[in-house]
Amino acid sequence: MSVCTKTGLSKDQQERWSYLYSYMDGEIDAPDLSSLENQYIEQLDAELITLLNQVGGGDSKTRDRLASRLEKILSRRFNNNVTVETFGSSKTGFSLNSGDLDICLSFNKKTPSRVMDKISRLLFEEGMNDIRSIPNASVPIVKFSDPRSGLDVDISLDNRLAIYNSDMLKSYAQEHRLQQFVQMVKYWASRRDINDAFKGTLSSYAWTLLAIQHAQMIQPPLAPNRQIDFQSKPVSFQGTMYDVGFNNDEFKTKNKQSLASLLLSFFDRYATRWDWESMVVSIRNGQPLSTREKKWEHKGPLPLEVVTGADKGKMEHIMPIEDPFNHEHDLSRVVRAEGAMSIQNEFMRAIEMFSEGKTWEEICEKVVEDKSKTEDIFQDLRQLSPDEINTRLDEKRNQLEEVMELISQLLEEKEIMNDIIELLTDGFKETNSLRAEEKKIFSELETLNVEIRELKNKREETDARIVLPTNRIRQELEKIFLLLTQETDVFDMQTLYQEKKSFSYFFELQEMYKQSRDSDKANKKHIKLRRKHFAEYTSLKEIKGVKNDILQDLIQSHPDLEGIEPHPGSLREYKRNAKKLQNSINKQFNRKFELRREIKRVEGWQRISSRKQNNLNRREETRNQRSRTTQKPEVNINEVRQKASSGDSISLNELDALLAKGGIASIGNNEPKASQQKQRQSKKRPSRRIDIRQGRTRGRKETRK
Ligand code: CTP
Ligand code: MG
Repeated sequence: MSVCTKTGLSKDQQERWSYLYSYMDGEIDAPDLSSLENQYIEQLDAELITLLNQVGGGDSKTRDRLASRLEKILSRRFNNNVTVETFGSSKTGFSLNSGDLDICLSFNKKTPSRVMDKISRLLFEEGMNDIRSIPNASVPIVKFSDPRSGLDVDISLDNRLAIYNSDMLKSYAQEHRLQQFVQMVKYWASRRDINDAFKGTLSSYAWTLLAIQHAQMIQPPLAPNRQIDFQSKPVSFQGTMYDVGFNNDEFKTKNKQSLASLLLSFFDRYATRWDWESMVVSIRNGQPLSTREKKWEHKGPLPLEVVTGADKGKMEHIMPIEDPFNHEHDLSRVVRAEGAMSIQNEFMRAIEMFSEGKTWEEICEKVVEDKSKTEDIFQDLRQLSPDEINTRLDEKRNQLEEVMELISQLLEEKEIMNDIIELLTDGFKETNSLRAEEKKIFSELETLNVEIRELKNKREETDARIVLPTNRIRQELEKIFLLLTQETDVFDMQTLYQEKKSFSYFFELQEMYKQSRDSDKANKKHIKLRRKHFAEYTSLKEIKGVKNDILQDLIQSHPDLEGIEPHPGSLREYKRNAKKLQNSINKQFNRKFELRREIKRVEGWQRISSRKQNNLNRREETRNQRSRTTQKPEVNINEVRQKASSGDSISLNELDALLAKGGIASIGNNEPKASQQKQRQSKKRPSRRIDIRQGRTRGRKETRK
């Protein structure tokens, strides 16, 4: 098989969309499901009911628990500025065990900046897996999975319309058979991997609308139209008005179809009879709308043209599905060419398998993503033996355990460190006022010191110039004064020279006396200042003592602080270390995330390889059985019966065959040449050929009434 000249599909693509491909070359007709045997439909119905008991409903307790846990951590993170609401299948009643948990987050006050990053970070710290954020979508969303419950979660921001449409879907789900029917359509889409808008197929929500539209169109209808005769409820969202009113009254249906027959008609409709070119799925209309009237005519290339590379343009309205409240929103906007091919391939596969009498379990066989063609994520594991895989898995599990242990130790350490920082901060707060006083005294002491130093210098300078102490200067002054002022004794008179000298000495003494007095004053002041200095110093020591008492009390009453120097420097160091500790915690969280992913990968490979081995063993066994049976000589049962009736002897082998074909009682009933067993395979209707977008219009179509 190489590139198909008719369709342009490559060998790989022909294999990937094999059901669709075999219809596209026009040689095979679509099977007619109306001729299926009743017995088969009944069996199918029983199988569906059993399956619904296992997978339907979803575990609401686990979801509720996870929802309230998330509400708690989000409220704490955003200081109660958020409202957390659940919507989607956990509210509508169309949930399956495998469904995700949809959460809407709205901020009561201003939405914090970079909120999606903050949410992702928070989820990471909470140990959530596979966190992906789509912040720039019209409704920003964070997707992740919770390792504890195994549930996938979507947190969207301000998704008001979704809350309203979930309420309306809940109203549809009151009809039990409709609920089960939608659940089974969603189950099939999920198992066949065509229910992910982020992977270019339709969302579960879109599949729900497709199913409801079908239930509205069958006769008598199973679902009413909830958007007629309703109380209008206009709401404004992102600047646009929407009417989110709907009729929530109870309804009863006259439809009596079994679940199996509902599903068969669903696949029959959408596989071959729905004309996507001219019809828009519209549950608010109760029947399809015209693409022309809605101005939703298909534009751009067909999926086939895109996947074969014939046209790289943008596809528009490829499978038009109208949102019941936001009428401008076509839910097929997200469908990519490959997704459209897969969806159509799945429809064709389903009707083909129904026509072959296959079970629902076979039809819904889980698609295991074959990544080997694009990126072989198991490449390094392929050469390893099962034992080596086990060893690798053990190794990784042990490492994960160690990392988890380390994380819990680090978290504990961080908690202690936070406590210490908090205690020290509180302790220093208490000593803060004392510290202010301490500072004041320090600066006063500083000024005093300067003054003392200046005075000391001045005094020393003066003292160097004054040779006599002040008393002696005064005595000298008095003596010279007397000498100069006493009455003159003519026999003992001073010479003029002596008199001049005495006068000069007197003036010198006068100056010296003045300076000496200044020096004395400075000395007294110096002593006073020294005393003050001492007093200030004593009170400083007292303050230090009180401060130490406070911090010592703190240390004694908190054993965590034992051995810690109560000093602002140590607080700063603790803060620095806390930051470092947080960095290593983050690193360990990353490591935990990577190990978990690796374990999942190895486990995945283990499952795949053991399944492969089982299949090989089974095939080997079948081959052996076949070779054992072919060793027996072939027996013509009619001849054996003749032999037996005429009394001829028969071999053990012939007896075995006779017993297997009805025993002695069957003697005389010769088997017809051709097998009369009715083939389960349904008839083909040559008149009804597959009409798929991918192959352009051929055959009979359902049209809008
Ligand atoms: N929704 C929407 N518009 C979309 C997709 C989804 O309004 N384009 C809203 C709908 O309210 C829907 C909810 O988001 O009910 C959840 O969507 P989804 O998870 O696709 O549907 P569920 O029914 O929750 O499917 P599952 O059980 O698989 O999770
Ligand atoms: Mg959901």
